[in-house]
Amino acid sequence: MSATPVAPLDLAAPAAPHDGLGRMATSLVGSEILRIAAEVRALHEQGRSVLNLTVGDFSARQFRIPAELESGIARALAAGQTNYPPADGVAELRHAVREFYRQTLALDYPLEAVLVAGGARPVIWAVYQAILEPGETVVYPVPSWNNNHYAHLTGARAVAVETRPENGFLPTAEELAPHLPGATLLALNSPLNPAGSGFRASALEAIARLVVAENRRRGPRAKPLYLLYDQIYWLVAAADAPHATPVALVPEVAPWTVFVDGISKAFAATGLRVGWAVAPPFLAARMRDLLGHVGAWAPKPEQIATAGVLADPPLALALAATVRDGINVRLAALDRALSALAAAGLPVAHLPPAGALYLSARFDLLARCGDNDGIRRYLLEEAGFAIVPFHAFGTRPDNAWFRLSVGAVGVDEIEAASAPLAEALRRAAS
Ligand SMILES: Cc1ncc(COP(=O)(O)O)c(C=O)c1O
Repeated sequence: MSATPVAPLDLAAPAAPHDGLGRMATSLVGSEILRIAAEVRALHEQGRSVLNLTVGDFSARQFRIPAELESGIARALAAGQTNYPPADGVAELRHAVREFYRQTLALDYPLEAVLVAGGARPVIWAVYQAILEPGETVVYPVPSWNNNHYAHLTGARAVAVETRPENGFLPTAEELAPHLPGATLLALNSPLNPAGSGFRASALEAIARLVVAENRRRGPRAKPLYLLYDQIYWLVAAADAPHATPVALVPEVAPWTVFVDGISKAFAATGLRVGWAVAPPFLAARMRDLLGHVGAWAPKPEQIATAGVLADPPLALALAATVRDGINVRLAALDRALSALAAAGLPVAHLPPAGALYLSARFDLLARCGDNDGIRRYLLEEAGFAIVPFHAFGTRPDNAWFRLSVGAVGVDEIEAASAPLAEALRRAAS
C-alpha cells in the first residue's frame, strides 16, 4: 500500500441541481416518511425521549423474525446457496406460494402466475412499468402508500380519490366508479397502510364487479383496466376482520388482477426482502423480465427459508399470528390511551384498531398549528410523540389525520407517553 496522501475527489453538485439529470429524477420527491424518521432519529441522538410511531417497520427488540426463518437462512448459506436465483424465484418458493394461496385463500393459480422479487416494492414498480404508458391513468384512493411516487416513476396520470374516515379510509365502488372509464390501472391496498382497515367482502365485491363491467364494456381489443391488489398486511389483520380478495369474490376479475404480497409484515421481516406477485402468467413473465434487468431478486437463502415456512401453511399461519398478536396488544394500548384522552375532552379522535400495524388518529390542533405538519412538529417537540401525517399518503395537508405505527414500540412505552401527550394537547387546546 502506498503511504502517499490521496486527495479527496471534488464531487460538488452542478450549480443548478437539475443540470445533467433526467426530468423524472429532477422532479422526484423523496419519501416524506423517511424524512420524518430521520428527524426523529436526530432528536433521539440528542437524548430526547421519543415514542417513535413513524416508520412502518419493526424493531428487532420488539419483534424478532421467526426462528424458522433465521435458521433456514443460515442453513441455505451454509449449503452454498449464494449464487443468482432463477429470475422468477426459486422453484420451491413459487410452489409454496401457489399452494399457500390455494389452501388459505381458496385461489388456484398455475405456477407460472407466481413471480418472486426482492420485496413488494419492486413488484409494485414492475406492475406500474409493465402496464402503464406515460400519460395513461392510474386511479388510487388516498390516503394510500406510495402510489403517487410509483405514478411519478412511470409518468402515469394519477387520479387520487379521497376516502372517508367512516369507511375506514377505504374507497367505495360509488367513489371509484366515475374515474374508471379510460383508466388503465386501479391500485388498491387492503388491509390499508395507513389506517390498518380492511375491505368488507361486500364492498370489495362491488369494486371487482366494476372492473369486470368496465372491461366487458371495452371489449377484447381495447386495452383493459387492471387491478393491483396489494395485500402485504393480510396475515396480520385483526382476527375478527377476515381478509377478502377480489378474485375469490369475483373469479371473472382474475385475468386483470395482480396480487402483491410478501414476508415483510407477516413475519416482521422487512430487511430480508422477499415479496411476490401472483398475476396472469403473461403479465408475470413481463414483470420478471423487467425485474431481471434491475436485478431486483430476493436473495436466494431468504427465498429458500421462506419456502420452508410457507410450505407448511399451519406453521406459517401460526408464525404470522404471533406477529399479529404482538401488533394487537400495542394497538390496544394506544386505543386505551387515546380513548382516555378523548374522554377527558382533549381534541383527539381515532378509528378502532383493526390490526395491520397501524392506527389512525385525528389531533385537531389546526387552530394552533395551522396544518398537519405544524401539528406533527408540535407533538414531536412538546410531547416526544412522533407520528406521520396523512398528507404523506396523498391527502390534503390540513385534515389533522395521522398514522400511528406500533412495530418499534412496547406497551410500556406507549403507556408512558400518554401523560406528556395529554399535557401537550391540553396546552394547545387552552
Ligand atoms: C401497502 C404496502 N405495500 C408494500 C410495501 C412494501 O413492502 P416491502 O418491504 O416488501 O417492499 C409496504 C411497506 O411499507 C406497504 O405499506
